[in-house]
Parts: sequence; C-alpha cells; structure tokens
Amino acid sequence: MDNKMPKTTASRNPYLVFLGAILVSSVVIFFIYFQPSSNECHSRLEDFPFVKDAVPVSIEKLEKPVEKPILLLWFWPLGVHWNLDSCKPIYNIDSCVLTADRSLYNKADAVIIFHKDIRWDLSNLPPSPRPAFQKWIWYHVESPTNTARIPGLENIFNLTLSYRRDADITVRNELTVLRSTEMDQEFVLPKKDKVVCWIVSNNDPRTGTSTRAKFFQELAKHIHINLFGTAFTGSRLRYEDYYPTLASCKFYLSFENSIHRDYITEKVNGPLSAGAVPVVMGPPRENYEQFIPAKSFIHINDFPDAKSLADFLLQLDQNDEMYLGYFEWRRFYKAKPHLLTLQEEFIQPVCLACEHMAREKKYYNVVHDLYNWYFS
Ligand SMILES: *[C@@H]1O[C@H](CO)[C@@H](O)[C@H](O)[C@H]1NC(C)=O
Repeated sequence: MDNKMPKTTASRNPYLVFLGAILVSSVVIFFIYFQPSSNECHSRLEDFPFVKDAVPVSIEKLEKPVEKPILLLWFWPLGVHWNLDSCKPIYNIDSCVLTADRSLYNKADAVIIFHKDIRWDLSNLPPSPRPAFQKWIWYHVESPTNTARIPGLENIFNLTLSYRRDADITVRNELTVLRSTEMDQEFVLPKKDKVVCWIVSNNDPRTGTSTRAKFFQELAKHIHINLFGTAFTGSRLRYEDYYPTLASCKFYLSFENSIHRDYITEKVNGPLSAGAVPVVMGPPRENYEQFIPAKSFIHINDFPDAKSLADFLLQLDQNDEMYLGYFEWRRFYKAKPHLLTLQEEFIQPVCLACEHMAREKKYYNVVHDLYNWYFS
C-alpha cells in the first residue's frame, strides 16, 4: 500500500510528471547509446563515432553504469558447447556477461567450475594468483552416490551451484503459481492408452540387482509396465517423443538412481508437466512435499510392498474420479517442461549463476568443507 503513495502524488502534479518524463527519456537514450555491442563488457571507442574526439577518461565514466558482472565458464561441461547468449531468450536473464574466454580470467567476477571436469591432480583449475574479488562457483548436480571426492576442493570455492535447497544457487524445476488469468483455463487430461510407463537410459533394470531394479522386477509381476529408452530398446527415445509419450500414460515411474535428500530430478518434473502421475522412489515423502503438492504424486513407501502398489494403481485405473484427484493441484500451480538435450541441460544452471552474481556480487562468501556439506 505505502509504496503506491508517490505515484498518486505524481499523477496529481503535472510538474512532477514532466520531470519524470525527462528522467525516463534520458535513461532510455543513455541505454540506447551505451548498450554493450556483444559479449564483451567494454564497448570500443569506434562503436561511438560521435565521441571519437572525446578524452578516454569521460568514456570510462560513462561506461560504468552498464557494467555487468563477468562470469567465466571455465570448462564447457563434459566438452559440450552451446550458445552463451541463451539466457535472455529462454529465461529472460540478461544480467551478466557470460563468456568461456579464459583470457578474461583476471577480470572475471566469478568462475564457474564444473566438478566432473576437474582433474584428480587439480592441474586444470584456474591459475594462481586468484583476483581477490573473484568468486569460484562449484557447479555439480549429480547425487553424492555419483560424485567423485576429488581431494583438495574442500576449501577453495565461494559458492555452490547444485540441486540442493541449501546450496547458494539452487537449480531445480520448480512449480510456479498460476496467475489469475491462467486459473480460468480448465485442465484437460491428455488421452491415455497406457497405464504405467518408464523410460530408462542406462542400466537395464530387468537384469539389475540395485534396489531400484529389484523393486521394478517385483512390480512388473503384478502390473504391465510399458518400457522405453536405451536400456530397454537399445535406442534413445527421441526428444520430440518424450512429452507425448509421458502424456499417453496414466502413471510414470519416477525412480531416482540413488536416494538422497532433495535429489528429486526431472524424472518427476517430466510427468508433472506432461499430465501423468509420478510414482516416486527417492527420499521420504516429506522431502517431496517440500517441492510438490502431497496429492500430485504416489510414493512407493506409502505401500508395504510392490504388489500393494500395483493393486492401488490398477484400482485408480478403474476409477476416474480417484485418478483425477491427482490433478487437483493444477488449479493453482503449473509444472513447466524442462529442456531435454544434453546441451540444454547446462543452460539453466549457468543462467541461474548469472542471475545470482548480478544480485549478490558484492558479498564475501566462502565454502568451508565442501564434501562434509555435500555428503551430509
Ligand atoms: C573466495 O574463497 C577463497 C577461498 O576460501 C577466499 O580466499 C576468498 O577471499 C573468497 N573471495 C570472495 C570474494 O568471497
């Protein structure tokens, strides 16, 4: 309420409105002329023909207000390249200069370091000395089970970029609250021609001995499971078939590869955004409920064994009203489809780091005992 006051005063006072208009147009003109021309944060003199004769000092002064933090991506994760200008079109994030050009190391406000690409002897880390203002960001989104404890990384980072809720920069597919205009749109359940589905890319669970594989083998004795993906068919489900396949199933097995707090991945977001009910295996139900509504998923721990779960799914298959109860949450929230290709997997985390740095560039921060935190 309070913060609306100045507006009201201004609209009553024509002089203030006039002043405001002048202010706004000068800012607009300023940005038109001084937008950085490319990835580089410094515009070159010849970009501004009208200031050719000006003294360099004044240019430096003029440049200051458009200075964005420079974020250096030290490794292309797993060697995968993508267009670093993607943050704006995809996430509307445009608050840093993202680069992979190592010659900018001494100027970089932050360096993003992808854990899996660090050599065991640390020989491919950025060189010393490290600029005092620079922050190193530990970028890692695998679960602890799939994390190599490379020695020497415990106390060298300033920020963590991970799926964990208590990371400095958290990367997750989060549900968003519907705007009032979106609430009027009735949710239409996609046409279903399958009951239970599962897409697995590696480790064939039909022959595996992991907890996940064993549970699957037991479940498959009591209910038919439609299988997709490399582990079953030898070829990857095409990206364009991913969401339509999920939508055509009533339930989807969102079984995580390992069980850790907050490790709830796109395996859950996929069915939620496509319009199927995830049947989850992972951390306890309470942990899921910190991220998604209690009645948006089915947890395997809610049942004493695989057979009871299968019976329940078969019951829901016969009872539309009960089944539709799992979509009630859609009246208030929505799940956004996540990006699918390997390149795209890295875009969101890196863009989030960019957004974070623009917001909290000034703060001093150190990560103490990285692994103690991550493996806890
Ligand atoms: C970043 O972390 C390192 C290592 O702990 C520390 O020496 C440095 O002062 C920190 N810098 C900032 C800007 O937080």
